[in-house]
Amino acid sequence: MSHQYILVQKKDRVGLITLNRPAVLNALNDTLMDEVCAALAHFDADEEIGCMVLTGSDKAFAAGADIGVMAQYGLMDVYKGDYITRNWAPISRIRKPIIAAVAGYALGGGCELAMLCDIIIAADNAKFAQPEVKLGTMPGAGGTQRLPRAVSKAKAMDMCLSARMMDATEAERAGLVSRVVPLAQLLSEVIKTAETIASYSLPIVMMIKEAVNRSYETGLAEGVHFERRLFYSTFASEDQKEGMHAFLEKRPAHFQHK
Ligand code: HXC
Repeated sequence: MSHQYILVQKKDRVGLITLNRPAVLNALNDTLMDEVCAALAHFDADEEIGCMVLTGSDKAFAAGADIGVMAQYGLMDVYKGDYITRNWAPISRIRKPIIAAVAGYALGGGCELAMLCDIIIAADNAKFAQPEVKLGTMPGAGGTQRLPRAVSKAKAMDMCLSARMMDATEAERAGLVSRVVPLAQLLSEVIKTAETIASYSLPIVMMIKEAVNRSYETGLAEGVHFERRLFYSTFASEDQKEGMHAFLEKRPAHFQHK
């Protein structure tokens, strides 16, 4: 498959997608998002892939939705074209884990795209912001909803209303990113984490992702009930028996992803 704005690689059981529109700091236009969705769906359907990584350049994960394009759109363009919903929402239906490896700017839609991933690992030069208010608009790909869940209402209000940038240290302290690593080691550290995840039983990993995501959508009792049903169902998998017997026999587990 050839792509205009992304690079796609397979590294053993890890699928790596690199945003590649450097002239505009990976500004997110429709073609780029179509390509990202298609590549993620492709990896999601690929039995040989257990985890995916989405990254950008050292300077920018993505500096936001493409302002040049948005400046031309009217209401009917975005409504009839199903803007954002059409080629962003499918990302939240990807069943395998996606790690965002963020260096440099993750602004507006860039921050929202990172938050659509399951884990954000940041380089020490990462900068996060929701600066849409400066453009006379507002976050439109989940920023006002996912940011408060990640960093608290006060900090989300602060970021969305003042448009200020949050550096990597603050982002880690606030819980937006799971960890911060030196820029030079970002990709190797993220790939290592992705390889670890991909070495586990794929269906079990998918169940864990599904269960954690359910916590965003339900109350505690309902969420725990959902988790318990999935937990019970792991007892029907060959990999659960393999993992437990491997521990008891003091040997590494060999998961068959079933
Ligand atoms: C289109 C963009 C862009 C964007 C940068 N560029 N961000 N083009 N859309 N979001 C372009 C610039 O116009 C410029 O093109 C080139 O990238 C390099 O950017 P510079 O500004 O020259 O670089 P620098 O001085 O280093 O400043 C970097 C920056 C700044 C701080 C990231 O570019 C910036 O503030 N960008 C806009 C960030 C933003 O407002 N994002 C939110 C967008 S709204 P030329 O041709 O001049 O070289 C949004 C809505 C989300 O995301 C809702 C739905 C998803």
